[in-house]
Amino acid sequence: SRPVLFDTDPGCDDAVAITLALASDDLEVVGLSTAHGNTTVENTTANARSILELVDRTDVPVARGADCPLTVDLETAEHIHGPDGILGDLPEPTAATEPVDAPGAQFIVEQAREHAGDLTLVAIAPLTNVALALALEPDLPELLDELVVMGGAAFGQGNVTPLAEANFHSDPHAAHRVVRDLSPTIVGLDVTRGATFPPDRLPALSRDGQLEWTIRQWLTYYDEEQLARYDIESAAIHDALVVAWLLDDGILEIEPCAMRVGTDNDLARGALVCDARGVTERPPNGYVATAVDTARFRSVLGEGLEFLLQ
Ligand code: BDR
Ligand code: CA
Repeated sequence: SRPVLFDTDPGCDDAVAITLALASDDLEVVGLSTAHGNTTVENTTANARSILELVDRTDVPVARGADCPLTVDLETAEHIHGPDGILGDLPEPTAATEPVDAPGAQFIVEQAREHAGDLTLVAIAPLTNVALALALEPDLPELLDELVVMGGAAFGQGNVTPLAEANFHSDPHAAHRVVRDLSPTIVGLDVTRGATFPPDRLPALSRDGQLEWTIRQWLTYYDEEQLARYDIESAAIHDALVVAWLLDDGILEIEPCAMRVGTDNDLARGALVCDARGVTERPPNGYVATAVDTARFRSVLGEGLEFLLQ
C-alpha cells in the first residue's frame, strides 16, 4: 500500500480525510504533522490525537508543527469548525498518542527520507510546515513521490477573500514557496466545493453511536449562512476530496499548469494564479484539478465510512 503523510489542521474536513485514509488498505498513514490553521496548533494537535483515539489507531505517530505562519499574523477559523476547531464527541488524548520529539517540519523530512521516492505528502493545512521542511531538506522534491495540496481557488472565488482560499491566505509566503518549488498537485476550491456528502447518505447501521454521531457533525459543519453563500446543499468536505482522489483517480480531472501564489498583503494575498492559457509562456510547475465527479466522490467516501461504521 501507498505511504501517505498528512500535514493537517483538524478541522472537521481534515478529520474526514484522515479517517477515510485510515479506513483504506490502499493507503498506509505513516503519520500526522499538525499546523496552525482552523485553530491553534495546541488544538489541532489535540484534535489529531483524539481522532486517532476515536478510531483506535494510536499507532500512528503525531508531530506537532508550526504555531504561526512564516511572516503574517496567525488567523484561525473557529467560527467554521467549532470552538476547539473540531465538532463531535471526541475522546481526550492519552499517553498513547503523545507527539514525537521532532517538530512537524523535521518529521516530514524524516518520513520523506525513510520512504525515499515513495511518500505521498497530503498537505491539507496552511503550508508552513511544508515550506520549513523544504528549507531543512532542499532535496525534498526528489524524496517525495507526490505532494498533493488542498488549497487555492484557481479559477473561481476564494473563501477568505474573493481571490484567496483559507490555507493559502493563512500563510501566503509558505504557499508561494511550496507552489514554486515543489511541483504540487493542487486540489482547490474550484473542485472541493463539489465534494459534498449529504448526511442522509451516511450508512445507518452503526455499532458505535459516538463515532457515527461525530462523523455526522464533521459532515454538517457548515451553517445555513455558509450553505447559502456557496449555494450548496451540504458542507464541502474539502480535504477529504484529496484522499478520495488518491483512492480513485477518476474523481478529478487534472491539468499541468504554470502557477504562482500572491504574497502581497493586499488583494493578491494567498491568491493562486494559474496561467491556464499559457500567456506567460512559462512551463508548467505543477498540476491543478479542474473538474470533479461528485457522484464518484460520494461513493468512495460512503464506502469508507460504511467500512468504519460497520
Ligand atoms: C481548507 O481550509 C480549512 O478550513 C479546511 O480544513 C480546508 O483545509 C478549506 O479552505
Ligand atoms: Ca484543513
